[in-house]
Amino acid sequence: MEYQFEKTRKNYEHFASGRVLYNAHGTTSFPVRLGSEIIQRCFHILRSKGNEGPYTVYDPCCGGAYLLTIIGLLHRRHIKTIFASDINHELLDIAGKNLSLLSSSGMETRKKQLQQLFELYNKASHLEALESADYLTSLISNESLEEIYCFQADITAPKALHEKCSNVDIVIADLPYGEIVSWQTDSTYPVTHFF
Ligand SMILES: C[S@@+](CC[C@H](N)C(=O)[O-])C[C@H]1O[C@@H](n2cnc3c(N)ncnc32)[C@H](O)[C@@H]1O
Repeated sequence: MEYQFEKTRKNYEHFASGRVLYNAHGTTSFPVRLGSEIIQRCFHILRSKGNEGPYTVYDPCCGGAYLLTIIGLLHRRHIKTIFASDINHELLDIAGKNLSLLSSSGMETRKKQLQQLFELYNKASHLEALESADYLTSLISNESLEEIYCFQADITAPKALHEKCSNVDIVIADLPYGEIVSWQTDSTYPVTHFF
């Protein structure tokens, strides 16, 4: 695939899962460059149709919301609302924590945790995470998302959508592909019912 927007390969270590962004067993990390490329293609398509944004973005298979969080960090000035849902309610706790990093207060809370961990264990990894947190803070300093909603839903089921989940401009999802994560559903055709 030829990149149209993220043309140069960059170092995305500040976004690494488990560093500042939270990680949990069973969650996956979408490649940052690819996620950024896809969302910029979406912005481009919408702009070409006269929709200048800011946009409402929904990931209905959000897992730990890694993908949404990196998109929110990198492109927040184009995004006004984020919806995140997953069938697995245990992952929604991580999703909520990751999405909290899109606010200054959430990032400050994370920095305090990392500071405490560094004082307790004196590990280089915690110091590096603190440096990354400073970098990520610089991405969120001026502009803020208006709303973030996180809820449980089986996206293959009828009427799965949250009542507030309306006027969505972009649906972006890394579907369960069966290696680390499989569909949890009663549907025989989950992808069809997803769409
Ligand atoms: C590849 S992971 C998504 C990871 C996510 N993009 C992230 O950045 O953390 C696929 C997700 O689909 C969820 N899933 C499986 N069946 C589902 C269903 N019927 N409805 C909604 N989510 C489902 C899984 O729980 C898993 O979190």
